[in-house]
Amino acid sequence: MTQKPAKLLVLPGNGVGPEVVLQFRRIMDWFSMHRALPLNIDEAIIGGASIDQYGVPIRSEVLQKARSADAILFGAVGGEKWDHLPVLQRPEASILTLRRELDLYANVRPAKCYSTLVDFSSLKPDIVAGLDLVIVREGTSGVYFGTPRGRDVSKTGEVFAFDNQYYSTSQIERICHFAFALAAQRKGRLCSVDKANVMETGALWREIFNRVAKDYPHISISHMYADNCAMQLVRNPKQFDVIVTDNLFGDILSDCAAMLTGSLGMLPSASIGAPRANGQRDALYEPVHGSAPDIAGRNIANPLAMILSFAMCLRLSLARPFDADDLEKAIEQVLSDGIMTADLCGPDQSPTSTTGIGDAILGVLNT
Ligand code: NAI
Ligand code: MG
Repeated sequence: MTQKPAKLLVLPGNGVGPEVVLQFRRIMDWFSMHRALPLNIDEAIIGGASIDQYGVPIRSEVLQKARSADAILFGAVGGEKWDHLPVLQRPEASILTLRRELDLYANVRPAKCYSTLVDFSSLKPDIVAGLDLVIVREGTSGVYFGTPRGRDVSKTGEVFAFDNQYYSTSQIERICHFAFALAAQRKGRLCSVDKANVMETGALWREIFNRVAKDYPHISISHMYADNCAMQLVRNPKQFDVIVTDNLFGDILSDCAAMLTGSLGMLPSASIGAPRANGQRDALYEPVHGSAPDIAGRNIANPLAMILSFAMCLRLSLARPFDADDLEKAIEQVLSDGIMTADLCGPDQSPTSTTGIGDAILGVLNT
């Protein structure tokens, strides 16, 4: 049986984006060729490069391509050159447009500590060795998007500002279903994080989570207040498997969890939308880091966050969990052989180039 090729849209972006994307594409080509993975690849200009060439951070043609793709692989956007522009015309607007237009509500951020990198964590090695957790953050609602919001002047003449935390039942339901399904593919433990003690949205969140939980009797559930979760993430992070939380808490807790693992150059992420008629979900995979203008153009950026984002794509969009495992194992092997970019090197180690990391992973895959 010939399999229909998966449509992937690659958006390299700016700064180190194109450099890390180049290495991910070599790895992708390897899987396509050696693992009978039929892919139909398209590439487009986005962010600063799009502003320079077309005057906008993302063109409607590119948005259309994104809508029809099975998965989007996004490098990074941004740079000083475009920082003077109004917020909505800056390179970073492209990623926000994609998230909004494709309704990519489930932001998935794994935090995994590779054994060779335990010393990079700010915590003691025994606290982080073997750490492997995922934070599922609701990404399209909550206080960052709630209305009304704004500024006003009170009767006494004092300026005040306000934001509105909003969550509907269906918004909570869909993110909870997503997190339960993910926990079922992992160790089967899910912790819901809220502030049900002091927030109305938190109380609703907890109520809906408990209702959705009835559909997943095999998942072991727990609840935690967000402030306690921040504390538990640095006290004993290995107690967690999957955490599900709202937009604001997820933003903060996922950055906190990221630091447990050491380097920004190692962190992948996924943003996933609702199932379409064919069951496939819109999905965008990208490294957590930005365009790193301070090191761009020197072939020294760590491409692993981008390559690990492709591993997530293999698992979540392409139904290739074993290929994802093989890729992650190859990366682990390369790291334990001491092959690393400068961001991961100690004072007496010699760093490998961005290209060198791609070479090393292909070397392991070919053995
Ligand atoms: P950044 O993540 O680009 O860089 C922060 C620090 O980490 C820098 O010292 C950088 O050299 C280092 N770093 C980042 N990625 C690395 C890698 N792969 N290998 C080795 N070192 C790495 O964040 P920053 O400096 O705050 O922002 C730079 C630009 O990126 C800005 O224009 C910002 O708006 C944009 N940005 C874009 C994002 C995206 O495309 N989704 C996300 C975050 C920032
Ligand atoms: Mg953040």
